[in-house]
Amino acid sequence: MKDLKRKDMIEMYFDFFKERGHSLIPSASIIPENDATVLFTTAGMHPLVPYLLGQKHPAGNRLVNVQKCLRTSDIESVGDNSHLTFFEMLGNWSLGDYFKKEMINWSYEFLTDEKYLGIPKEKLAFSVFEGNNDAPRDEVSANLWKECGAKESQVFYLSKKHNWWELGSGSGPCGPDSEMFFDTGKEKCSLNCDPSCDCGKYLEIWNDVFMEFEAKNGKYLPLEHKNVDTGMGVERTLVVYNSLTSVYDIEIFVLLRKKLEELTNKKYEENTKAFRVILDHIRTSVFILGDDSSLSPSNVGAGYILRRLIRRMIRFIKNLEVESSILENLALIVIDYYKEDYKELERNKNYIVSSLIEEEIKFNKTLKSGYKTFNKVIKNLEGDTIDGTNAFKLFDTFGFPLEFTIEMANENNLKVDVEGFNKKFKEHQELSRTASSGEFKGGLADTGEGSVKYHTLAHLTLAALQEVYGKEIYQKGCNITSERLRFDFPLDHKMTDEEKLKVESIINKNIDAAIPVIKTEMDLQEAIESGAEGTFSDKYGDRVYVYSIENVSKEICGGPHIENTNQLTHAKIVKEESSSAGVRRIKVIME
Ligand code: ALA
Repeated sequence: MKDLKRKDMIEMYFDFFKERGHSLIPSASIIPENDATVLFTTAGMHPLVPYLLGQKHPAGNRLVNVQKCLRTSDIESVGDNSHLTFFEMLGNWSLGDYFKKEMINWSYEFLTDEKYLGIPKEKLAFSVFEGNNDAPRDEVSANLWKECGAKESQVFYLSKKHNWWELGSGSGPCGPDSEMFFDTGKEKCSLNCDPSCDCGKYLEIWNDVFMEFEAKNGKYLPLEHKNVDTGMGVERTLVVYNSLTSVYDIEIFVLLRKKLEELTNKKYEENTKAFRVILDHIRTSVFILGDDSSLSPSNVGAGYILRRLIRRMIRFIKNLEVESSILENLALIVIDYYKEDYKELERNKNYIVSSLIEEEIKFNKTLKSGYKTFNKVIKNLEGDTIDGTNAFKLFDTFGFPLEFTIEMANENNLKVDVEGFNKKFKEHQELSRTASSGEFKGGLADTGEGSVKYHTLAHLTLAALQEVYGKEIYQKGCNITSERLRFDFPLDHKMTDEEKLKVESIINKNIDAAIPVIKTEMDLQEAIESGAEGTFSDKYGDRVYVYSIENVSKEICGGPHIENTNQLTHAKIVKEESSSAGVRRIKVIME
């Protein structure tokens, strides 16, 4: 039986594309820093949007990496053979360089050649775009697959729903894609069964997107440069290569599984769903908490997703009749397994563990009475639906995420009035995001004028904070919209009014001084030696951009930025609060 390790597979992919002229770039953060329209990074292309739209990337126009990704839209499917919330996505990119011919040939080679994955050719299936009013039927890709050796019967033409990639926001770089599937050999579930069917016969492993359009206001405009964006799931590919039956059979989950069996005295085989939920959610929670941005569980946005994951996991642990806290034991296994490739996990180890435990304590305080209330509600129920008021009470008073109540309701063959819940929710909280329904808006890194200005303001803000508190202040987290800057930095006390005024006046002095913002491309080492500010060097590739504002700031940064500080208007700190222990969060707006 084959046993390809995660690390070796990633290495194999990197080497393959490095040999074909690609530069390795690091994984970006799992919580987008410059994009408030999306809560998590959902694909490797997400952090690369500005480059796919034409900005020059410092590492060149052929890139390869592995990206931490998170998709929770089908969190309820976690527990079956293939769904995960967190996953690692291998990807390679052509930024206006090669296109379909090279990519399809390379894909076929990597998938079938014995030197690489060596998947038997007859076990593969390929899908291509069937065409519509916006773009033609992709005969080019279909022919390329056939020239590689695919039989007519292995190529499927599918609709836009399946073979078109664009961000959830409906804007940004996009285009038809061609997906590669492993045919598990199972019987077709029906006459119409094809790779778009999720009966389990076909397992998608790789997606080649041919980004030749930019979606804008409902129209598809041809891009000047044609790009390639690909994504290959590490976990799924390991399943195929090693002939496993489920993603939960890969190494990290086997390690976690053993530990969980030991801690619970229960068998994986007899408690498959609960085990899988716990294994998935602990890994995802560790990666979110380990992401340098000090996100903590909360009732809004990304913090709410994190809370949902942790609490759902705790509920399943309790279903295994475990009362003691086991989250730390499990988290340490995840940290240990991935820390070499994601140094931030080691760096944030204490934060990860203490946050998990803190959330568990909070939840335990209300869990028993919450269950009691839930049972009372369903006992007294007339009909089959828990109303919005009760669902909201469980959420607000007992900390039961809505989805959690829905799941428990379903287990009792009941429903929840989600609309009623949302109404109650809105009455109590102004919510800009749709966190309560668990929906994400997809989005793209915002390169609009407003956001670009706030990007430069972030550099001025860091410089001003350093002037007031000392050079040891650094950017712990940053989030930008076209309307404001949110900036986290380490400080052991609440900012005084005087300090806030000082920071504002330094920023504004530098705005008035009309200083040019200069962009220089250099090696990472050179940038560090020149004193350029950067959060953690493992976050960058070998070639970087450095943005300098003379005598004020010098930062390693992807940009984009404005050209002169005088393009900014005066800044004001409108909010100052604690973001987590020892970390302050300020909201800065330009008037
Ligand atoms: N962006 C493409 C995907 O995520 C490659 O499937």
